[in-house]
Amino acid sequence: MGTSSQHGAGPGEITPDGCAVEFYTLLPVMGEPDIVHDAVPPGASILELGCGTGRILRPLAALGHPVLGVDESPAMLARVADLPTECAEIEGLDLGRSFDVVLLASTMLNADAELRRAFLATCRRHVVADGWVVVQRADPTWFATVEPGSRDHDGIRRVIRSVHREGPRVDVVIDYHVGDLTWTHEFSRHPVDGDELSADLGATGLAFDRWLTDDRTWFTARAIPVRSS
Ligand SMILES: C[S@@+](CC[C@H](N)C(=O)[O-])C[C@H]1O[C@@H](n2cnc3c(N)ncnc32)[C@H](O)[C@@H]1O
Repeated sequence: MGTSSQHGAGPGEITPDGCAVEFYTLLPVMGEPDIVHDAVPPGASILELGCGTGRILRPLAALGHPVLGVDESPAMLARVADLPTECAEIEGLDLGRSFDVVLLASTMLNADAELRRAFLATCRRHVVADGWVVVQRADPTWFATVEPGSRDHDGIRRVIRSVHREGPRVDVVIDYHVGDLTWTHEFSRHPVDGDELSADLGATGLAFDRWLTDDRTWFTARAIPVRSS
């Protein structure tokens, strides 16, 4: 069995998980803030784990949500200087306060099982008892269908250079071209579906709530009440 890897290259700073700060600065929103905003009450406070440049968080703040962004990359957070942020690893994070909504977007859920549960445990630790954990996962059909090829979207050319399947895990190498600039991102994604999703949520004190999109990439989870004995 090979091991999964996360690596990035290209102009500007690259985060430990291989994301290019300059690329995320150029990446437009693709409907994410509206999906979150429509799923939760107006004015609900939102903690985003892995907020990057604030691509999703900034529009949520503009929609009237008090927000806090967490990211381990100071270079990413330097692009969110207009919003409250905390530079920290998500796993093990304990801010000592709770939010109406905890957001885990950008397919970060599709990490390996150990990291995924650590991310979900952090979501659980920071959501109020009657709040919502909002998650975006990779499209489950992607794992069987992704192949090398290219597509253009919003002025960005995405070229999938290689696809390697290792059991359920998929390792890809993608080049992103914007104008004269090119970044390469090499990463692994693990499918999270059905019983495994329920088990991961349950193990961290969460329960599936509902799908937010027809393609079942976005969903909410709620905290399982803690019973006092
Ligand atoms: C794919 S980017 C997405 C950024 C943002 N959510 C968006 O959609 O524009 C993932 C971000 O999560 C951060 N990140 C990844 N793993 C992390 C970890 N274990 N702890 C803290 N931040 C992490 C990276 O630094 C990066 O900024």
